[in-house]
Amino acid sequence: LRIDWDVMRAEKDGYDHFMQKEIAEQPRAYRDTMLGRIDKETKGVVLPELNMTLEDIHQIQQIQMVACGTAYHAALVGKAVIERMTRIPVEIDVASEYRYRQPVIRENTLVIAVSQSGETADTLAAMREAKLCGARVMAVTNVVGSSVAREADDVLYTMAGPEIAVASTKAYTSQLIALYLFAIYVSQSLNTMDAMTRMELLSTMEKLPEQVEGMLEDTRTIQRIAGELADRNHLFFIGRGLDYMVAMEASLKLKEISYIHSEAYAAGELKHGSLALIEDGTPVIAIATQEALLEKTISNIKEVKARGAYVIGVALEGNMEMAKTADEVIYIPRTDALLTSTLSVVPLQLLAYYAALARGNDVDKPRNLAKSVTVE
Ligand code: AGP
Repeated sequence: LRIDWDVMRAEKDGYDHFMQKEIAEQPRAYRDTMLGRIDKETKGVVLPELNMTLEDIHQIQQIQMVACGTAYHAALVGKAVIERMTRIPVEIDVASEYRYRQPVIRENTLVIAVSQSGETADTLAAMREAKLCGARVMAVTNVVGSSVAREADDVLYTMAGPEIAVASTKAYTSQLIALYLFAIYVSQSLNTMDAMTRMELLSTMEKLPEQVEGMLEDTRTIQRIAGELADRNHLFFIGRGLDYMVAMEASLKLKEISYIHSEAYAAGELKHGSLALIEDGTPVIAIATQEALLEKTISNIKEVKARGAYVIGVALEGNMEMAKTADEVIYIPRTDALLTSTLSVVPLQLLAYYAALARGNDVDKPRNLAKSVTVE
């Protein structure tokens, strides 16, 4: 497997910023990350680049995931879907913490390191620790020949193409796609998901690029909301389950380029302390794409509304309950409940982008940050 691209040749292609271009490239990145990995005949996932035999997969007793920043947020979604699909227990650590908690690495532990650049010092150090303890290490990375790719036993490449903007967008969503494919791959090897469910999930995944294209067609609502948020000093993101994980990523995105302070909370956790910070007009972005958890999230939205919050909901098309409860709603297309993260994050990337623009910030090179963090 070989991927050719040259960072120096990457251009903005008429976009104002690399981040804007990279957000727009996501449909292509989704397609390329799925390309050749979904077998049309068997309607299953094929990952010939992994050196894992069926026996190796059967031997995995636990999985540990390590990553930093946005890659960590993708890994959080990965943990949730791998556990749900395969029933293998998955632990996850911020890579800079992994070594210092003396993790229990058993003989049949698979460690998955997720890194766009493949050069993040903390992630490399965590991988090395895992290898020293005898674990098998799989990398999910975007850069061929990177240190993470070279040191791992197996590599699953994301096909995002070069990502120049410091704020990661298409690399994150490509990591999600790669991790979904891996989870399905393991589940079909272990027979933990029935064939019909798998086939439906894969054909739903194949529709994602087109759905993202649809969302990118008209971004006026998001631009308007971003304009309203641009002069705020702090806001909250809330969500439950996979929506909470997207809330963490959306919050990081907003902080790193707009410099607006934000925090992501599990929607049910806010009332255990941070609700005290909600006052008249405090913006709360409530992500509610998990229909099984909708009723609970709506009641959390009502809690913040009762304290004066200005609520922007992110919900599935046709969700009338959200329209009745929130002040503004950003709708995303309907998809399988396991896959909503790949769609709901897109308008929130744009929200961060437009808020940063409105504040006159350097979107592609935010202060104090580097694209690749090669020190621990
Ligand atoms: C994301 O927007 C950040 N710039 C940052 O959190 C990044 O994801 C992190 O430093 C990890 O980088 P990596 O994926 O290259 O390892």
